[in-house]
Amino acid sequence: MKLKTYITAEKIQEKVAELAARIDEYLGDSEAVMIANLKGSVIFFSDLIRQMKNMNITADFLSTESYAGTEHTGIVKITRDLSMDITGKKVVLVEDILDTGLTLEHIMRYIRDIHNPEDVKICVLLDKPSNRRVELAADFVGFTIENEFVVGYGLDYYEKLRNLPYIALVEEQ
Ligand code: IMP
Ligand code: MG
Repeated sequence: MKLKTYITAEKIQEKVAELAARIDEYLGDSEAVMIANLKGSVIFFSDLIRQMKNMNITADFLSTESYAGTEHTGIVKITRDLSMDITGKKVVLVEDILDTGLTLEHIMRYIRDIHNPEDVKICVLLDKPSNRRVELAADFVGFTIENEFVVGYGLDYYEKLRNLPYIALVEEQ
């Protein structure tokens, strides 16, 4: 397998700082909850919240399953629920990539119906709008990319390459 650099670590960090500033502007100093969808968003999430100035935020996690290798199964399952009460709070849902939109649509509906937050915004590092299967847009987007399978900075290829510090394209050999 060959990896081709797609977005460098430096470019990612610049973008993360920009997104953190925009989220800070939206949240002010409110007691908002930053939620990461595990596992793909964990690297992005940890960099993002460390760039935020709001010291009243809390962090929580949920996990979903929807992919088998590089293919979407079309079925989204919540495999780990939130551990905190987010009733009446502002929430920013952080995800590595918005692809078909099925995962985030499912999580959004689930959080709104079950957990009663005041508001939920979506922050994604990457957006692949050409592959969308449902109508959904993120509120904070890092990079808009082509319909290509990318890895690194949290994104996996059969569970590997999450620890790559930059984002790469996989070139099959
Ligand atoms: P969606 O439900 O199709 O929007 O996909 C969201 C999830 O699919 C993400 O959380 C990723 O785990 C995974 N995913 C989508 N595209 C890619 C990719 O290019 N590389 C790695 N994972 C991806
Ligand atoms: Mg994945």
